[in-house]
Amino acid sequence: MELATALKGQIVQNRVREVGINPNYWYPVVWADRLKPGQVQPVTLWQQSIAVYRDAAGQAHGLENACPHKGIELHRGEVRQDRLVCPYHGWEFAPSGECVNIPYFPPDQKLPCAQARSYPTTERYGIVWVFPGDPALAAAAQLPEVPEYADPNCLVIPITGLFKSHFSISNENTMDVFHGFLHKNLQGWFDPVLLKLAQTDCSVEAKYQVSYRGKFTKFLGLSTNAEGITTRKVEIHYQYPHYHSTMEGVSSLYLMRLPVSPTETRSFSLLFLPKVRLPSWLKSAIKPVFVPLVRRLLFMPFLGQDVEMMESEQQTYRQNPNRRYTEVNPAILALQRVIVRQYEQFVQQSSQLESSQLESGQPEFGQSEFGQPGSGQLERLLSGMPLSAVGSESKASESRQELL
Ligand code: FES
Ligand SMILES: [Fe+2]
Repeated sequence: MELATALKGQIVQNRVREVGINPNYWYPVVWADRLKPGQVQPVTLWQQSIAVYRDAAGQAHGLENACPHKGIELHRGEVRQDRLVCPYHGWEFAPSGECVNIPYFPPDQKLPCAQARSYPTTERYGIVWVFPGDPALAAAAQLPEVPEYADPNCLVIPITGLFKSHFSISNENTMDVFHGFLHKNLQGWFDPVLLKLAQTDCSVEAKYQVSYRGKFTKFLGLSTNAEGITTRKVEIHYQYPHYHSTMEGVSSLYLMRLPVSPTETRSFSLLFLPKVRLPSWLKSAIKPVFVPLVRRLLFMPFLGQDVEMMESEQQTYRQNPNRRYTEVNPAILALQRVIVRQYEQFVQQSSQLESSQLESGQPEFGQSEFGQPGSGQLERLLSGMPLSAVGSESKASESRQELL
């Protein structure tokens, strides 16, 4: 649906800061090269702790990070072939989460039914992805399309971000091209105009026009004259829950979001500069120098300023969740509607599912005899409400961006 692009004041109540995620999507959890065969590490996806491990054959798996025996975090254990072994009593769990061996158990006796929740896990674009929702929906759910990743001559620049803010705040920052003012000392963009805006139930597409002047125009190949002004189109496509942003002929940036908690979000970004096309041998030769240089010069100074704003926004929100705000950018309002709608849709589907399961007496997905995994999916996802009362205080000083 096409929307009007005129800027118009609207009072917003930040209900969007209170919503949870729709878990029926793939979420990035770790850079693939940070998880070697035989390694296990804990990740947090919307307050669920998951032990992600890579088996001896190189396959990545995700299990609930709590042993069904006594709750020991399984990431403290070890990987044995394709199994994750709890460090306490050595119970072994298959990728399905089923306990398949207890080292001290009589061999002729049937193992107890002890099941850790297993998360569908896959790997693409150098990232390990986990599906935290209904596993039956995982196969049909699409990962973002990143065609540049398959181009052997296109250099990919991976960047990790960590924001002490709700995912709606970090997503609004990306959609909000009107904040070039913040980056004025970096010779960022100016004179932004929203040209086009469209929204569906799960996406927002915005087209802006921006102008650049100064050293960055030269660095990015926007203008041959460093003093000249160049005007370009920027397209931002939010496809819940991730982003793709392009600047006409200059850059293509994919921002994969990992909502960690109501006050923390991580970002796995892939930056491509289509003009920098190199033969593969040269690409590998200059990569160790070029990639950190682009990160440091091009990305991190901007990101650092953005992080400060996001965290300030989060802190003020937490101090008074009832404060009202005025927004003028229709793209931000569209984004907020999508985020709220996605959560509401999920809550509605879950409550229908739970009532039909109650009627039929079927267990909820992932539910075990121990009642640990998956019990009360809706309850668990709602447990963060109101989110303003959950989580630790956000401290700007804790913010950091990790560089690979
Ligand atoms: S707590 Fe995990 S095996 Fe006992
Ligand atoms: Fe910014």
